[in-house]
Amino acid sequence: MGHIPVLYNETFSMLDVKPGEVWVDCTFGRGGHTRGFLDRVGEKGQVIALDQDYKAIEHAKSEFKEELQSKRLLLIHTNFQNLSIVLNGLNIHPDGVFADFGLSSPQLDGDIRGFSYRDKNAKLDMRMNDQEKTKTAADILNQYNRTELTNIFRLYSEEPRAHLLSKRILEKREEKPFETVGDFYEISQNLWKHSRRNPSAKHFQAIRIEVNGELEVIRKLLKQSFEQVKKGGKLGFIAFHSLEDKIVKEQFKFWQKGPSKAKTLILQEKLPITDDSMRQLSKTVAKIIKPFPAKAGEDETKRNVRSRTARLRCLEKL
Ligand SMILES: C[S@@+](CC[C@H](N)C(=O)[O-])C[C@H]1O[C@@H](n2cnc3c(N)ncnc32)[C@H](O)[C@@H]1O
Repeated sequence: MGHIPVLYNETFSMLDVKPGEVWVDCTFGRGGHTRGFLDRVGEKGQVIALDQDYKAIEHAKSEFKEELQSKRLLLIHTNFQNLSIVLNGLNIHPDGVFADFGLSSPQLDGDIRGFSYRDKNAKLDMRMNDQEKTKTAADILNQYNRTELTNIFRLYSEEPRAHLLSKRILEKREEKPFETVGDFYEISQNLWKHSRRNPSAKHFQAIRIEVNGELEVIRKLLKQSFEQVKKGGKLGFIAFHSLEDKIVKEQFKFWQKGPSKAKTLILQEKLPITDDSMRQLSKTVAKIIKPFPAKAGEDETKRNVRSRTARLRCLEKL
């Protein structure tokens, strides 16, 4: 299946991209949203697209040849936590920054890195950037202690039986270390034997979040994109996971309402904003574009089941 950009119409109606503007798409993927930005900024505008996955970059080189040649599209192979470095290097303050978190459909369908529980023989890798020498999914399952594993499943997949799952992981790795998707799938799907629900998608997602430090890089991206965007510029983020969406929601509230209210929210949600300069805000510095996030309608969820959990939030910097 090809990649279908989620909340496409909602994105462009909320962000109101204008001719001549410069936008950053932090998650190029298969370029669905990037194409939308290019169409709207027109010949005089520019799009800077990032992706940490070399496969996305390869795709762009063949599908966006003209735009790359004319430099209407700049493509950078990097993690979006490096946004400030990239923009400082280019000496650009963009009119807007956008990101559509998570994985693209080609990464989920038939990728050899083990992102999906469907590819049973794939290696348990899950690193979105293969070049970086960080831990793989197998390393986590083979090396983390029971408390660390329980925390991952409790926090990232809201798994009520996280404790039991981590116990089974430890038992299994005593027999044989985890290597393939099938090794983990077997115990993951058996956790709720008499239930109709298959929890594996959430368990795999939880491990993927840990492998790639996905929540931490989103926090960094939010801060940097707000600092980098022009006054009057916009931010738009699509989250697929409730914790990702909470981070965006609370950070947006913080900028809109100022620190006093946000601080309690942050404490309640245990989403620390670690940066002191952010705590010292004394006034409203942004406006949330719509009070509730945009969600996919019935038509879109029928066409693309992955859009079900997507939440788009947009903000204007004052
Ligand atoms: C859901 S897809 C984006 C799809 C894109 N909007 C489209 O319409 O084709 C997410 C993409 O973001 C990339 N990605 C995820 N986390 C990233 C990060 N921290 N830095 C850079 N790219 C990231 C993934 O490799 C993937 O290609």
